[in-house]
Amino acid sequence: MNKSKPTTIVIFGASGDLTRRKLIPALYQLVLEGLLAKGTRIVGFARREKSHEQFRVEIEEALVEFARSKPNAGAAELKLFSSSCYYQTGSYDNSKSFHDLKELLEKIDEEQGIPSDRGNRLFYLATPPTVFSGVIAMLGQTGHIADPNDEKRWTRVIIEKPFGRDLETACALNKSILSILDERQVYRIDHYLGKETVQNIMAFRFGNSIFEPLWNRRYVSHVHITVAEAVCVEGRGSYYDNSGALRDMVQNHMLQLLALVAMEPPASFAPNAVRDEKVKLLSAIPPIKLNEVNECSIRGQYAAGTIDGKLIPDYLRENGVHPDSVTETFVALKLHVDNWRWAGVPFYLRTGKALEERLTEVNIEFRQPPLTLFSHIKNGDDIGRSRMKPNMLSLRVQPNEGIRLSIGMKVPGPKMILEPEDLEFCYADVFGVESPGAYERLILDAILGDTTLFIRQDEVEAAWRLVNGVLDGWASEEVPHIHLYRAGTWGPYAADEFITNDIKKSKAL
Ligand SMILES: NC(=O)c1ccc[n+]([C@@H]2O[C@H](COP(=O)([O-])OP(=O)(O)OC[C@H]3O[C@@H](n4cnc5c(N)ncnc54)[C@H](OP(=O)(O)O)[C@@H]3O)[C@@H](O)[C@H]2O)c1
Repeated sequence: MNKSKPTTIVIFGASGDLTRRKLIPALYQLVLEGLLAKGTRIVGFARREKSHEQFRVEIEEALVEFARSKPNAGAAELKLFSSSCYYQTGSYDNSKSFHDLKELLEKIDEEQGIPSDRGNRLFYLATPPTVFSGVIAMLGQTGHIADPNDEKRWTRVIIEKPFGRDLETACALNKSILSILDERQVYRIDHYLGKETVQNIMAFRFGNSIFEPLWNRRYVSHVHITVAEAVCVEGRGSYYDNSGALRDMVQNHMLQLLALVAMEPPASFAPNAVRDEKVKLLSAIPPIKLNEVNECSIRGQYAAGTIDGKLIPDYLRENGVHPDSVTETFVALKLHVDNWRWAGVPFYLRTGKALEERLTEVNIEFRQPPLTLFSHIKNGDDIGRSRMKPNMLSLRVQPNEGIRLSIGMKVPGPKMILEPEDLEFCYADVFGVESPGAYERLILDAILGDTTLFIRQDEVEAAWRLVNGVLDGWASEEVPHIHLYRAGTWGPYAADEFITNDIKKSKAL
């Protein structure tokens, strides 16, 4: 149902990769599906000189390449969409550019018959993070921001990641943004939360009654969260070398996954009810202390190898990477959640670039039955009465989105022998429709004013507080402990060893 109001969407950084590959295709899909109100307009803003016409041609080219419902070049729907797009050349720190933008927006309102005090604005900051606070300050100074209590029109601002590079910079960015905007107008995006399967973690947990009673320290032995990428830094070497896996993946996507997997049930699905629970969960994780960093983290960096037959160079030879860089392209972490539900249950997070496969998965491993009654089979052989492979619930976010539960089943025949088997549910097979893209869902939510899937100020700061502990620990090492791993493998051997030994230790307790 289309409940959205006519809105002008302004994309800062409109000449960039994100705009071309994700934002414009998402907006096009929303228009195709009739989810945006008639009269919705898109304005690109960037420094490069360009006419409206040139921008429209670029948009059409981007859509032919990247749209989910691919149009043919010159198709009527493509022309109709691009005719609703405009371009404003300007500088991110020049008030004249922002006055010019305001004039253009007012002209567009007028063309749509929207009174001057009624124009809704969604500003999307798709620029490098260095200009985030400057753009918001300019928007404030040049009168672009509506009063948050104005009932006739609204202003909302979507802010891309990375939101800060540590706790201090994230707090400073929040302070500067919130001196201009009200928190209700701020939409900090983490596109992982727009993925259907990530939202399904909440549906699975709180829409069904059978797993929730087991979802705690009495039944869960430990939890693994894996976000593996099979790509290397691919032309983004200088950005990545300044960031690393911890900032790029753990601070946002992985801690969000952890929060959704481990939080308490919210009292409702209202935005703040859900976000309150996530903040409570993140705040219950004690930051890793300086002297614990080696027991609780492993960092790695890829060396040359092959992925899908393609040769990958050493990370240190990638363009834009410092030849002596100690930036981690892989990290494994052990965290604990110190609350009644999870005390003593380790959460292992593992992410890296240039790994064997692209995979995002949460694995919840349950405790063993208290008594071993049955023999079981391993690699086809009866290995007698020994401990079965424990039950494992896997929530697969990508690819082949779905859920798998591994259980012990009796092997047919005269003997009472068990073998582990999987009960599987696969989204594509069951629903047979392609899931909407993450950006489609999140942009629509921002237009509808739903902040549930966006990160609140206290949430982003709680996540940085955890990551800062690790950053400080690493910075305190005289000789950085970086483990090399071959591209195309599952990461450093030391990470497997660390997690396997830790699980053994915790089971022996
Ligand atoms: N690309 C992705 O898939 C992706 C995914 C997740 C998050 N993000 C985030 O989204 C934002 C945009 O990403 P992107 O890949 O589109 O970035 P980008 O291509 O590097 O930059 C976007 C645009 O910003 C302008 N720009 C570049 N450097 C600038 C500078 N130093 N000062 C002012 N303006 C500058 C450029 O336009 P003009 O020179 O014409 O002004 C550029 O086209 C970033 O914050 C990024 O971290 C991107």
